[in-house]
Amino acid sequence: MTEVLVIGAAGKTGRAVTRALVERGVGVRAAVRPGSRSLIYGDRVRAVSVELVTGSGLEAAVAGVSAIYHLAPNVHPDEVLIATRVAESALRQGVSRFAYHSVLHPDDASMPHHLRKAQAERSIRARLESATILRPAAYLQNLEHAARQGRIEVPHSLDAPFTNVDLDDVAVVAARVLTEDGHEGATYDLAGAERMSVRDMAEVATDVLGRHVEAASMSLDDWMTGPGADQSEQARHDLVAMFRSYDHGGLVGDPSALRQMLGREPRTWRDVLA
Ligand SMILES: NC(=O)c1ccc[n+]([C@@H]2O[C@H](COP(=O)([O-])OP(=O)(O)OC[C@H]3O[C@@H](n4cnc5c(N)ncnc54)[C@H](OP(=O)(O)O)[C@@H]3O)[C@@H](O)[C@H]2O)c1
Repeated sequence: MTEVLVIGAAGKTGRAVTRALVERGVGVRAAVRPGSRSLIYGDRVRAVSVELVTGSGLEAAVAGVSAIYHLAPNVHPDEVLIATRVAESALRQGVSRFAYHSVLHPDDASMPHHLRKAQAERSIRARLESATILRPAAYLQNLEHAARQGRIEVPHSLDAPFTNVDLDDVAVVAARVLTEDGHEGATYDLAGAERMSVRDMAEVATDVLGRHVEAASMSLDDWMTGPGADQSEQARHDLVAMFRSYDHGGLVGDPSALRQMLGREPRTWRDVLA
């Protein structure tokens, strides 16, 4: 039976996409970092080692698969190089069904990591015209743990608008484009249908969870010496640019492509928490 190769399969997004494929009865070749101890579930999932920075293991991972889902590790400086290498390997080995996990508004020049995704999209399409591009908004799940802990603290405006998307909805769309005809060359924005600020999300969480959930803002200096301290200097730079961009308009997209791909309303913040 043929398999779909999922790059970055042990991460947050990769796990959701792997699960969605398995739920459709599809075998997954799960590319994980060499030595990764992350557990990947089930009989239908076979882990293969791929070091994305050097490309080691990639050619063997691509051989014989029916489709490839490519995502880059978060704010990775080599995103374009890695995407190009994966697309070239797909081209060499005749794997024409290829989907790339980009981001909503990749051409937004205020965010360096978005621009790298725009460049990666172009590089992939130059090699594989039929590649499908998914452009997800920020995930609702990014704030779920904090909400359950009773305090959502962010280093950007509490009133900026977002149309965050459920990661499992994104994964359902990913599984469809990897297994069905008709998405060749398509680009889909995947935004949730609710426009909410962090303050709104805390209010809904208070209601759904039945206890007070606070929305709090943190200065960028506090973020850099606190939650951001473990990041590389380049990742911190990119994420600070993102928080500043969020201050000027949040991250808002159109939900119609997601609605159409799901054939139902996208899941809401309330659904994720309930
Ligand atoms: N979070 C959001 O709201 C959002 C929204 C839209 C788009 N995105 C994009 O989604 C993508 C995935 O994000 P994520 O949060 O799922 O990332 P993640 O959880 O960090 O997953 C990335 C995976 O890549 C693996 N990896 C890292 N460096 C590697 C290397 N050199 N070689 C091989 N594997 C390596 C990691 O392995 P280990 O498990 O061993 O560390 C991890 O399993 C990013 O490009 C991000 O920009 C995210």
